[in-house]
Amino acid sequence: MVLPLAAADQTVTSMTSDAANEIEALRAQINHHNYRYHVLDAPEVSDVEYDQLVRRLSALEEAHPELITEDSPTQRVGGLVDGAFAPVVHRRRMFSLDNVVSMAELEAWQARLARAIGTEPDGYVCELKFDGLAVSLTYLDGRLAGAATRGDGVTGEDITANIRTIDAVPLRLYGDPPAVMEVRGEVYLPVSAFDELNARQAELGLRPYVNPRNTAAGSVRQKDPAKTAGRRLAIWVYQVGHLEGGPQLGSHAEALAWLGDLGLRTNPESKRLTDLATVEAYIADVAAHRHDRDYEIDGIVVKVDRFDQQERAGFTAKSPRWAVAYKLPPEEKTTMLLAIEVNVGRTGAVTPYARLDPVFVGGVSVSTATLHNEGELHRKDLRQGDTVVVRRAGDVIPEVVAPVLSLRPKRARVWRMPAQCPFCDNPIVTPEGEARARCTGGYACPSRLREHLFHFASRGAMDIEGLGYKTVDLLINEQLIADPADIFTMDVDRLLDFDGWGETSVGKLRAAIAAARDRPVARLLTALGITHVGGTMARTLADAFGSMEALMTATEEEIDAVEGVGPEIGAAIAAWTADPDNRMLVKRLGEAGVRLADERRESPAVSDELAGLTFVITGTLAGFTRDEATAAITGQGGKVTGSVSKKTAAVIAGESPGSKLAKAETLGVPVLDEAGLKRLLTEGPAMLGSR
Ligand code: IVH
Repeated sequence: MVLPLAAADQTVTSMTSDAANEIEALRAQINHHNYRYHVLDAPEVSDVEYDQLVRRLSALEEAHPELITEDSPTQRVGGLVDGAFAPVVHRRRMFSLDNVVSMAELEAWQARLARAIGTEPDGYVCELKFDGLAVSLTYLDGRLAGAATRGDGVTGEDITANIRTIDAVPLRLYGDPPAVMEVRGEVYLPVSAFDELNARQAELGLRPYVNPRNTAAGSVRQKDPAKTAGRRLAIWVYQVGHLEGGPQLGSHAEALAWLGDLGLRTNPESKRLTDLATVEAYIADVAAHRHDRDYEIDGIVVKVDRFDQQERAGFTAKSPRWAVAYKLPPEEKTTMLLAIEVNVGRTGAVTPYARLDPVFVGGVSVSTATLHNEGELHRKDLRQGDTVVVRRAGDVIPEVVAPVLSLRPKRARVWRMPAQCPFCDNPIVTPEGEARARCTGGYACPSRLREHLFHFASRGAMDIEGLGYKTVDLLINEQLIADPADIFTMDVDRLLDFDGWGETSVGKLRAAIAAARDRPVARLLTALGITHVGGTMARTLADAFGSMEALMTATEEEIDAVEGVGPEIGAAIAAWTADPDNRMLVKRLGEAGVRLADERRESPAVSDELAGLTFVITGTLAGFTRDEATAAITGQGGKVTGSVSKKTAAVIAGESPGSKLAKAETLGVPVLDEAGLKRLLTEGPAMLGSR
C-alpha cells in the first residue's frame, strides 16, 4: 500500500512514540528492579524476568537508536577511556578523617569537640569505615553527570565511565532530586566477588589479587569499562558533599535517609546515638564482629549529627573536627607453628612454609603461610613448636610475623633445609652463589611435575581452559599424564569415571586441548618453562627462529647472537635444547599434533637454490626490511642466523653494518651488498664464486 506522504510520516511518528513509551516504561521498571536488587538487597523478580526486560529494551533501542539516552540502563558500559583520566576539581573539598585507636583517644577527641562547639553535641551518627576507594558522584537534575576519585582532596580523576558500570550506582535518581549534588561514598569489591575473582585467577594459572581494596582501586582505573563491569563492584554512599536546591536538611541522619530515598545505596548499619557511652558500645560491637559482612571495614566513623553543631566545630587543615575514624588494628593472632615444611615449584626451587594450628584471623581460617626462603625464616628465627604471631592485614596472604620467644619450648631446634626432597627423595642442593635450594629430581619429582604441568596449561602459556590444579592432580594421580605431551595423547574420556565429570565438562576439556595444539611457537616456548624464558624472551626466540626445529638445531653461538639474548640466557637455552629428554619431549609434542612452527615461517621454500647455505644479515638494507630479506633467503631454502662463522656462506651488509662485517672479513667470508643480495636471489649461489 502506498500512503500519501503526510500519512506515512504520521504512522512513523506514532510508531516511534509507541516505542518511546514502551522504552520509558521498561527503563523505569529496570531501574526499579535494579534498585531493589543492588541497593535494597530485596529483589522482587527473578534474574530471568529481569533479563527479559533488559533484552526487550535492548531490542527496542536497537530498532530506534535515536531514542537511546545516556541514562538508559543499557548504556552502563561505554567505550575505551583514551589517554589519562582527566582531572576534576571537586565542588567541595574531599576531606580525610583524623584517627583514634583507643577509647581514651576517642574521649579526648570528644572533649576537644565539646570545647569547640561550646557544649557536648546532641547526638552522633556512627558508621562503618568501609575499606575501599573514596569517590565523589555528581548528579545534575537527578542524572549521574560525573564521578571522580578523591585525588588530593581538591582535584581528583574523572572515572565516570567506570563508575557508570556499577549497578548499585543509579544513573537516574528517584523522587525530587536537587539541581546540583555531589555525594561521597566508598566503592568496594565484596569479599565474595573478590574470592570468586581469585578462584578464577587460580584456575587460569594467574597470580591472585592481594586484597579487595587494591583490586577495587585497580578496577575503577581500568581503561576499558567492560573490564570494570565484570568485577561486581558496589558502593556505599555516606556523605553529602555539595548541594544546590533540594530540601533543608538539619542533620547527617536526615541527609542519609534522604540519600536513601533518592535511590542511593546507604549502609543499614549507620546509627544515630545520643552519647559517647552508646558510641563506645557500637564500636565494641563492630570490632567483635569485624568480619561478619561481605565487605571489609577498617574502622568506625563517628560524626556529629546536627549540621549547626558540625559548623561550629569546623575543620582543621586536613579534616573536620566534627568527625573521627576509630581505626581497628590489623588483626594478629597467636597460634602454634606445628611444622616447617617445603614445597617444590616448577623450576625445582624449594620453598619452606609454615603449617599452623588453624587460627581465625582477618576473616579467614589460616592453616599455612609461606616463609619465602630459608634466609627469611632464619631472620625471623622461626622454629617448629614455636608459638607464633600471625597477621592478616586486609591481605589475603597471611604472614607469620615473629615467634613469641618467652613461650619457646626448650628443645626447639633451628630449622635446616632437608637433605632430601620429601616428594621424590632426591637430594636437595643449594647451588653455589644462589639463595634458593633446589630439588634435583627433575620431573620425576611429583611436586615439580604438578607445578610444571599447571604452568604448561596456564593462560600465558598453552592456555588450556579447565586444566587447573584440581584436574592436573587427578590426571597425575590416575597416571593419565606424566609430561606435557601426554596431555595431547591421553584418553580424555577416562575422566568420565570420576566424580564431577560428565559429557559436557569432558567435551569442553577435549576442545580446549585441541585448540591448544595450534598455539604460536612463542606460547609453546613459554609453556616449556625453560630457565630465563618467560613470555617476552619466548617471543624473541620465536621471531628469530620461527620453529622449534630451528631453535633445537641452533648452536649456542647462534642463540647468543639473537638480539636480546645474552650469554647467560643463551647458555641456559642451549643446555635445555641439548638435553635428550627435552628433545624427546618436543618430538612427542610434534607427533601429538602440537604445532612446532609459526605459519609465517612455514611457507615452503619456492626453490631450494640456497639449501644448505647459511647467511648473516647486518646493517640496514634500503629495499628490504630485515624480515623481508630473511624471508627471501629462507624462501629459497637458505638459513639466516645471527653470527658469523667460517661456515657462513655470505654476509649481507647494508648501511652501518656492525662488528659482523669485520668478523666476516677476518674469516674470509664473502660479503654482499644489497645489489649482491638481489643477484644472489636471481642467479643463485653460483654468483658467490664469480665475484
Ligand atoms: S566521611 C568529611 N564516612 O575514610 C568526611 N569516610 O580518612 C570525610 N571512609 O577518604 C569522609 N567509610 O575513603 C566517611 N562512613 C564513612 C567512611 C569514610 C570509609 C573513608 C573515605 C575517606 C577516608 C577518610
